[in-house]
Amino acid sequence: MRILLTGGTGFIGSHTAALLLEAEHDVVLYDNLSNSRAEVVDRLERITGRRPVLVVGDIRDEEAMRCALNEHRIEAVIHFAGLKAVGESVEKPLEYYDNNIVGTLRLLEAMRAEGVKSLIFSSSSTVYGTPKSLPLTEEMPTGEATNPYGRTKLHIEQILADCAKADPELRVVCLRYFNPIGAHPSGLIGEDPNGIPNNLLPYVARVAHGRLPKVRVFGNDYPTPDGTGVRDYIHVMDLAEGHVKALPYVTSHPGWIAINLGCGRGYSVLEVIRAFEKASGQTIPFEIVPRREGDIAANWGDPSRAEKLLGWRARYDIDDMCRDAWRFESMLEG
Ligand code: NAD
Ligand code: UFG
Repeated sequence: MRILLTGGTGFIGSHTAALLLEAEHDVVLYDNLSNSRAEVVDRLERITGRRPVLVVGDIRDEEAMRCALNEHRIEAVIHFAGLKAVGESVEKPLEYYDNNIVGTLRLLEAMRAEGVKSLIFSSSSTVYGTPKSLPLTEEMPTGEATNPYGRTKLHIEQILADCAKADPELRVVCLRYFNPIGAHPSGLIGEDPNGIPNNLLPYVARVAHGRLPKVRVFGNDYPTPDGTGVRDYIHVMDLAEGHVKALPYVTSHPGWIAINLGCGRGYSVLEVIRAFEKASGQTIPFEIVPRREGDIAANWGDPSRAEKLLGWRARYDIDDMCRDAWRFESMLEG
């Protein structure tokens, strides 16, 4: 198939592109490079032996989106593009609503104009809000988002549901990711955020590498087995595979559906630190500091819908995730 990936040079987009290229799909990456580099295209060529097309453009530029869809005769879009830092979204709500929501509206208009009817959207388990019970299933109502980033995901899901209702030919799958970590086993692509990382794994990786002094563990008084926060970490290669498996589904099922992509079990912050120590052979100093505002104690998802509808289930465990994240990290300049 001919597939366009908005945000395709980013962390999750690039790993998905690698699998799509390997599966002989034609891949167009559409990205404004606000949080990624064009060099990813060379890396993808090294990994797969095939070179994706890169279109440098903004999803808010409807004309440029239309051109890309038309010129490459795109059959399906996977929509990764967006700003994703929770803390930054509190400080810059307008930027987040404009980039994520207005950007999605422009994309939908461009798809309508060009007759592209299949869309996979990068949603997040954040749409569930504070869990009332675990595991989280797609039948559960979505919750109250606690920050503008989370609200963009919720609003976009609802906008997509409305559009699918209005256009019976539209086919939309919202993939609700749990916590993606890890890297491509080649070590050539991975997650290397600008500045001090917000998320646990890139932070832990930098401490193991000696680029940061110690991990701050946000609270050890949660109602969890060891008191630290529990999350459903998922290897980015498993997540990427979930998109590949969602393609035949999205192209043949009109309407809107949400599907969890997670492993279905949780690990605590201390378990992650220990797994990373094992993978890297490094000691990882940490200190317990107060809880981070807005954090929930625990969340993990029920991935059985993905298995039933897409034939997908996660294959990698936390040791695999840490091993591949470490390989990528240790290949970076110190
Ligand atoms: P990322 O920042 O690495 O990738 C996003 C890409 O989108 C970047 O390459 C960026 O340059 C591009 N982009 C941003 N705004 C754009 C615009 N207006 N026009 C064109 N390109 C634009 O992030 P990621 O981790 O790969 O996340 C991909 C998607 O998955 C995002 O929508 C994110 O919200 C969602 N998601 C991520 C996580 C996570 O923990 N990484 C969890 C749940 C959901
Ligand atoms: N944590 C630390 N120290 C750190 C960073 C994180 O102890 O330096 C802890 C957090 O308190 C939490 C766990 O590690 O218990 C995971 O935190 P992350 O920041 O890695 O991930 P979150 O679950 O907070 O956030 C993720 C995504 C968001 C999304 C959110 C809700 O990054 O995009 O899930 O679904 F909004």
